[in-house]
Formats: sequence, structure tokens, C-alpha cells
Amino acid sequence: MHNLDAAGHVRGESQYLDDIPVQRGTLHAAVFGSPLAHGVLDGLNLQAARRAPGVVRILTAEDIPGENQIGGIVPDEPLLAEGHVHFQSQPVALVLAETEAQARAAVRLIEADITPLPVITDPRVAQAQGELIVPPRTFRLGDPATAWADCAHIIEGTAENGGQEHLYIETQGAYAYPTDGGGVRVHSSTQGPTAVQRHTARVLGTGMHKVEVDVVRLGGGFGGKEDQATTWGAMAALAAYVLKKPVKLVLPRHDDLRMTGKRHPYSSDFKLGLSADLKLLAYEVTFYQNAGAAADLSPAVLERTLFHACNTYFIPNVRATAYSCRTNLPPNTAFRGFGGPQGMFVIESAIAQAAEQLGVPAYEIQRRNLLEDGQVFPYGQRVEACNAGLSWQAAEQKFDLAGWQDEVDSFNNQNATKKRGLAVMPICFGISFTKTAMNQARALVHIYTDGSVGISTGAVEMGQGVNTKMIQVAARTLGINPNRVRLEATNTTRVANTSPSAASATADLNGKAVEMACRELRTRLLRHAAEDLQMNYEGLDIHDEQVLAAGTPAETDWEKLVSTAYWKRVSLTENAHYATPDLWFDQTQEKGHPFAYHVYGTAVVQATVDAVRGTYDVDAVRLVHDFGQSFTPGIDRGQIEGGLVQGLGWMTMEELIYNADGRLLSNALSTYKVPDLYSVPVVLDVEFLETPGHPNAILRAKAVGEPPLMYGLGGYFAIRNAVRAFRPDVRPAFSAPITPEKVLTSLYAPAKVPVATASRASTMAS
Ligand code: MTE
Ligand code: HPA
Ligand code: MOS
Repeated sequence: MHNLDAAGHVRGESQYLDDIPVQRGTLHAAVFGSPLAHGVLDGLNLQAARRAPGVVRILTAEDIPGENQIGGIVPDEPLLAEGHVHFQSQPVALVLAETEAQARAAVRLIEADITPLPVITDPRVAQAQGELIVPPRTFRLGDPATAWADCAHIIEGTAENGGQEHLYIETQGAYAYPTDGGGVRVHSSTQGPTAVQRHTARVLGTGMHKVEVDVVRLGGGFGGKEDQATTWGAMAALAAYVLKKPVKLVLPRHDDLRMTGKRHPYSSDFKLGLSADLKLLAYEVTFYQNAGAAADLSPAVLERTLFHACNTYFIPNVRATAYSCRTNLPPNTAFRGFGGPQGMFVIESAIAQAAEQLGVPAYEIQRRNLLEDGQVFPYGQRVEACNAGLSWQAAEQKFDLAGWQDEVDSFNNQNATKKRGLAVMPICFGISFTKTAMNQARALVHIYTDGSVGISTGAVEMGQGVNTKMIQVAARTLGINPNRVRLEATNTTRVANTSPSAASATADLNGKAVEMACRELRTRLLRHAAEDLQMNYEGLDIHDEQVLAAGTPAETDWEKLVSTAYWKRVSLTENAHYATPDLWFDQTQEKGHPFAYHVYGTAVVQATVDAVRGTYDVDAVRLVHDFGQSFTPGIDRGQIEGGLVQGLGWMTMEELIYNADGRLLSNALSTYKVPDLYSVPVVLDVEFLETPGHPNAILRAKAVGEPPLMYGLGGYFAIRNAVRAFRPDVRPAFSAPITPEKVLTSLYAPAKVPVATASRASTMAS
């Protein structure tokens, strides 16, 4: 089934937050953010702004009727700064004016009186000073301390990765207005309607029942709106509640870039032990996560880094420790992969370094250590239905890895100023929210008397095609045409207590609930048909809108069935609740069964470096991916392509730079480069691995949202290999992104001297 949104998108007819007609009297809001990254907030001078044209009111922390708190995991984040500021552009005041332009103009007239305090931007500095968001976590398997003695080779090093701007096309925003009975309705561009509802209620000092959150769709989220849409939803609602007026707050791109958190930069130390025959025997790793100034989702992201610390390899002795470090940057947050990519970058760096030191291709080490059924992940879950080897072998054969490497070698022999590199990037990604309780969902299904169907779930459409999937699930389960089914906007009054649309699990969780509700309705209707037609219930079926009895058309079709059921007073509505079975995790032991299943795949990536300029192309990515039984192959292929290119962007050109004062320097699209059409590999081959899928996956189609991002890591190692084809004597620091500047410095580094990281990717001085 094609993505049902496609036609609306290309015609410009799809509705987003900004397309909601505003009511007469709507006020427009703009946010005043802290000019400094850390300090004591001594006072605000609002005089000039208050007198500015069109300004109606300026709200600060003092105007909050409830609690000034929006922290989700840890209550450490005020909605509006109070007493202190902790990051540059932290929201301090909200200006409400008659027009958007007036509100923004008035913001520029506000002055903050701040006594500066020292600014920390480096996670290792924060850790050394005891600035931790939560206590460190350690995952253990076997005993690395004694295993080192058995290792033929031990390598040690560090790896650093930068942050990543989500760059959803639609910036953060909300539209809120008072409703009858003292409530407020919030239209929000959020992945987590319930999070907006919960925190808005907290800020207003009212019950969640007074706050209704509605989401039509997002112009992209990528994790950036899992938690961080709450700020703007709660702010718009606060103003609407206090002023009893409709209020619209949409962040201009520049504010969005500066005020919101991003993917977490990490700095990590690793030690890897191998046997003489290249088996990985022991791995010790320490992650320093740059969390920013408040917890946000950092503790959960940190946990997923630990879950994916070994990627798709079995290592019998592991100790992985992770620190969530509080710095004076905007609170970093969920981003496609949710800490997994950061964990995988370190093990892949360790393997690359081992390969270079031992003079073997990295894929020899990777191939020999792939996970197999019956082994155990460091977090205690057994490896089952593992497709690591299957996808590797399929990639190796389909793409003739050995022949491809020969081609690259001969290209390199024939070309002096262009060099190629090849890298294999296998992935293993766990599907489920790592917080077990979040793995639940509900669906509300109405069949109308004309046979059409309306469905509500907690799923938020953000471009990933979940609405199409929900409709497909309903149509299949009911045996009717998909064009009879409509998916309603996501609304907290129709489906309550939802988990955010995240963790790649949206289609699985909400789809299972839709399937359950539709199955129940189908059974009910067929029981009615059996009675009505005096037939045996067993053997009755609905197929292509026709009721079948033992495979042959019966006297009734879908429309008649629904209509007669209504007149017999049979309920045509069902609400279902789904909770993923068999999940648990014991944090005191750091062991359990956190994932419903794992997704596997293997990518082969080729890059060509221009050894004169330091520029490069990722020319070809050919991959074999474990989709299970995909029922929307077009959408799923799109997720692979988008995720891959987003991963390549993170690894190559997207360089997020804060200076030592905590100021974002890469604060526009002129200085922060994202992949465009020309960055897409010319050869992009996505092969579907034939697998049975998994019973916990919706219709056995495995989750596809996040895993492909991690294929992008292959781009880093392919470029690095190309650099080393030109300069075999240099070993560039493992520092992502590998920008053309870093490539150039590596290509022309002084002989035999390893190139140092310019400085921590997240904290480079200007
Ligand atoms: N695809 C598009 N087009 N837009 C998005 O915002 N978000 C990604 C991924 N693919 C995203 C996307 C992220 S971070 C996640 S967790 C999943 O989609 C969420 O949707 P799913 O659970 O339905 O896969
Ligand atoms: N993935 C994505 N989002 C989340 C998770 C997770 O594991 N846990 C909490 N939010
Ligand atoms: Mo995705 S990072 O789980 O929103």
C-alpha cells in the first residue's frame, strides 16, 4: 500500500499546525531566551518591551499558576527560568502581542540582568566536577579484568561524536485556546501528546482532564518532538489560560536552532581485546554523554547507548559504563537511534583501530564476531531469531564483497589523487521502549452505519507513514477496502495516557491495538451474521467486503452486515489495549528482557575522497535489511533511504559547534550543513532479507524507523579507509563528523604523527 499522505503532501493540501485557521483575537507569542549560558538571574527589564506596539502582556515564571516544572524523567527543568539560567537561549519570558512581528520585535527590547557563572560545555569536565544528571550505569558480562590475560591483542583509544540538529522541516509550535468549563485545547506539533497534556496540567495547576491535546501530523520529529515539544505547548497553553485568549506560538527557525536540544555528543574511552584468530574477547568502554543543562530524556538515551554498546557482536567479557554529564548547553534529547548510534560508533571505532594495528580489513573482525542464536546480550536477553549472520552473508554474496574490495584496490592503484574506501556496517537494534511500562497502546475504532470506519490511536504521523499502516491493519483485519477507513487526528480525549510516537515502536504498539479492536468487531459482526442468516459461525469470513460462508459468498456484504447489526443494537465501537508481552528489566542487576525483538541488517558503503581538496562522495551504499514481512514496502524503503542519509549526514557534514561560552555558532543553514539530494549515494541498493518477521511485530513487519540511521556509520569508516589509502601512515582520531576539513588535515598531516582531534566536537572554540 502506498503512503496515503503522498498526494496531499505534493499538492500542498496536507494540514499542519500552521494550517489550522486561527480564531479572531488570537495573540501571537515570542520567547525571550537567556543571553548567557550560566548565571544568576538578578532581574529583567521589561519596560521598553511592554510599551512596544501591539504588546499585550509579558509572562515570566511569576505568572505560572501551578508548578514551574516540565522535567519528564527528573524534575529539573523550569518552563521559564527562575533565579538561574543554565543554557544560552533558555526561555525566560514570553511576549504576547497582536502580531507575530510585534511579539518578536518586543523580545529584542528585553534586557536581562545576569551575574555570570562558569560555563561547562565538555562532558568530561562536568564528570570530573561531579556534575551528573543521574548516577552512572554499568552493564557487565563475564569478567574483562581477567580476560585481558587471554588476549593476543589489546588496543585502546578514544572516540568522539558530535551532536545533530533534528532539522524537522516544521519548527516547534503550538496553538492553544480556552475551552468551555475552564479548560484549554492545545494543538501541538508533538510526538508525545500525553507529555504535553501532563506537563501543561502541572504548569497550570489543574487536572489533566482540563487539557486536551490534538495533533494532526508533524512536518518531521526525528525525536526532537518526543519531549521538547512540551515546552512550547505548555507555554502557549499558559498564555491562553492566563489571558483567556487564543495564543499561537511558532518558533522561527533561528530560535528553534538555538533553544532546543539535539542528539547527544559523546566522548568515550575504549579498550578491546582480541584472540590470535580475531575473536573479540573483552571490551571495556566508558561513555561521557553531553546531556546539556537538564535531564530531559538523557537518562533513557544513556541506557540505550549501553544496550547497543556491542552493536551486533558477541563479546563474552564486557564492562560498559556511562555517565550522563550536566553541561551548560540546551538539554540534549531523543534523536533517531536514541543513543544507540553513539554506542555503536565506539565499538566500530575500536574494531577499525584493531584492524589497522593488526593489518587486516575491519570486516574480517566484524564477520568473525557476529551474534548467533543462544548467545546472550550483556543485558541478559538471549539472542533469538538472529539475522546477523544471514544479513551479512546475503550482503557478502549479493554485492560480491571480495570482488568489490578488489575493484577499490585497483582503483586506488590507478589513481594518485582520488582514493576509495570500503566499509561494512552491520547493525542490530532492539525494538521496544527500554522503559517497560511505556510499551502499551490503545485504539478506539468506530464503524459508522454506512460501513465506513474511523480509527483513533496514540500514534502520531510525522512522515514515517504510520497512518497508512494503521489503515492497512484495520482494512486487512476487517476484510474491507482501505478507502473506507479514516485515521483521526491524535487526540488525548479519544485515546488517553499514550506513549510518545517513538522508539520505532509506534506501528507495532498502536497497530496491535487496532488489530485487537478490529478483530473483536469482526467477530461480533460475524456472530451477528450467523444469527441473522441462520448459519454456522465457524467458517464465516469477510473478504473484500463480502461475507463468505465456508469460502463461498453468503447473502450479505459489509454494508448490509453493518446496517443490520446496527438495527439489532449490536455495538459498532471497540476500544482495545495492547501491552507487549514478556518484557522486563531489573535495573539493580542491569539484566532482563527489555526488547520485543531485534532488527538486523548489513550495509556495504563505498566513498571516494578527493585527495587534493579533502572533499568526498559517499558513492554507493548497498544493504540487506531485515524488514520481516513488510506490508508497506514503499514506505519501509523510504525509511531506509531517509534514515541512511540522515546517518551519513551526522557522520560527515553536520557539525554542530558551540563555543566555550555555550553559544551555538552553527546556528543557521549557512553554517550547519545537512545532506541534500546530491548527498544521496548514486548507488543506493536496498535488498529485502526474506525472513518470517516476528510475532511481536505488527503483521510480522518489523519496526523500521530508527535502525537504518546506523548504516550511516559506514560512511565514516569508508571515508577513513579512503584517507588511509592515500596516507597509510596516518591514523586519524575517531572524531565524527569526518568533515572535509578533517579529511584534508589527515591527508596532509606530518608523517607518522596521529592527527589529534581539533578539540571536542561539541565544544570547539570559535
Ligand atoms: N521518518 C520521517 N519521515 N519523519 C520523522 O520524524 N522519525 C524517526 C523515524 N522515521 C521520523 C521518521 C524516529 S526518531 C522514530 S522513533 C520513528 O520514525 C517513529 O515512528 P515509528 O515508531 O512509527 O517508526
Ligand atoms: N526509545 C525512544 N524513546 C524513548 C525510549 C526509547 O527506548 N525510552 C523513552 N523514550
Ligand atoms: Mo525516535 S528518537 O525514538 O523519536
